[in-house]
Amino acid sequence: MSHVFEASHKVGDIVAAFPKAMDIFMKHNIDFCCGGNRPLSQALREQNIDEDKIIDELNKLYDKYREKLNDEIDMKNAPYDELIDYIIRTHHAYLYQQLPILKELVSKILEVHGEHHGQVLSKVHKLFHSLKADLEQHLEKEERDLFPYIRKYQHNPTQENLDKALSLINEIENEHTSAGDILKELRHVTEQYKTPPDACTTFDMTYRKLEEMEADLFKHIHLENNIMFPRLRAEKITH
Ligand SMILES: [Fe+2]
Ligand SMILES: [Fe+2]
Repeated sequence: MSHVFEASHKVGDIVAAFPKAMDIFMKHNIDFCCGGNRPLSQALREQNIDEDKIIDELNKLYDKYREKLNDEIDMKNAPYDELIDYIIRTHHAYLYQQLPILKELVSKILEVHGEHHGQVLSKVHKLFHSLKADLEQHLEKEERDLFPYIRKYQHNPTQENLDKALSLINEIENEHTSAGDILKELRHVTEQYKTPPDACTTFDMTYRKLEEMEADLFKHIHLENNIMFPRLRAEKITH
């Protein structure tokens, strides 16, 4: 199960990221409109509801929703705009939500465990920060330049529009390779995300989340590198 949603997240933010969460909130009488601007943990306390149970329920529903989306879209044949929407809604949304959380966690474990595990954790800190900075720029480039070009080509399939999209692909692929290299390095310095015996819960959670981000990024990059880009490169303008 993924651990996308946590009790510290604001109720309104959860619903914004995952509208189906409303079903769960309604079932448990959690106010997500007027009371949306407070952490879920607080809302649950007011209602006397077990936190772990709801978090579990939310994350399970989210997993199911993502699987369903994945099944519903035949990735190889879906129109480009469906593929793009899927990538943004699932993988980009995931990163926007998780990168700031991971940033806090990675700093926190360096602060707390730096004395005994400083060598590894300062490397993790450095690697994560360069990955985060790279990814933020990368997502922006895709959403601001590449994806709009591809959508434009889909709706108006001229050679000019295709060339514009294709001209960005090499650069985007290189950025995927660099992100992959940082992930490999992270995996290497953490010895496959193995936490030491004296690790606290936060330490464990940080490694688990980093590993989860790795898995999500692999799926994400796969869709772009192996599904979307080869299709674009194979496009032929017939008129
Ligand atoms: Fe992407
Ligand atoms: Fe990408």
